[in-house]
Amino acid sequence: MIIAANLKTNFTRKETNKYLEELESFVSSKNITQEVLVFPAMSSLDDNDTSIVTGAQNAYATKEGAFTGEIGLVHLEEFCIKTILIGHSERRHILGETQAELVTKFNYYKDLGFKIVFCVGEPLEKREAGKNEMMEYISSQYKGIDTEYENLIIAYEPVWAIGTGLTPTLQDIEEIHTELKVKSSAPLLYGGSVKVTNAKEVLALKNVDGILVGSAALYTEHFCSMIEYAQELEGK
Ligand code: 13P
Repeated sequence: MIIAANLKTNFTRKETNKYLEELESFVSSKNITQEVLVFPAMSSLDDNDTSIVTGAQNAYATKEGAFTGEIGLVHLEEFCIKTILIGHSERRHILGETQAELVTKFNYYKDLGFKIVFCVGEPLEKREAGKNEMMEYISSQYKGIDTEYENLIIAYEPVWAIGTGLTPTLQDIEEIHTELKVKSSAPLLYGGSVKVTNAKEVLALKNVDGILVGSAALYTEHFCSMIEYAQELEGK
């Protein structure tokens, strides 16, 4: 399974390096064979020599150039980063990234062979509008994306569940994941208020191939427990 931490705008470079060292020591002491990914803040990317794979939370679809406030391929290459998160709801809804921009970014990093964690998920009003409208909305977020890309991972993150402590029911997660699996056979992660208290139940669900964790991943011990749950569920 894939256990991913989105550190968002948290942890300095020093804190991130300490975090990665702690994770590595846990992963090696427990012989963890699950895929662990960590997405640090931009300025916390570094040459860390841990075995934990780090990815970028965002980068512009460019090698370099005049794009104030953005980073490009050269900045990722400096740290041998080959993994990127694209389409997170905070980028879609707070930073205003459009589907067209996300598709451009997706294609750029796909052509470079990056592992892409592509996020989809509905805001509350779409969920409340009923199942059909909600699924149509989520489908529109797949538009233009090569759903058969070999290095693709999809993360389903309902916007209303992110950072709120609210989650869909386990049955809802399983149902939506089963429908989304028809659109793409890529590994499908669930994200949105995954905590140490619900991670095991979520990971145990059919068609859940892992989790993308925000706030709870900031507690090393909690994130390590989630990694261990995934290990226990190996071959579920
Ligand atoms: P929370 O786990 O804080 O709800 O955030 C989820 C998320 O956005 C991961 O990308």
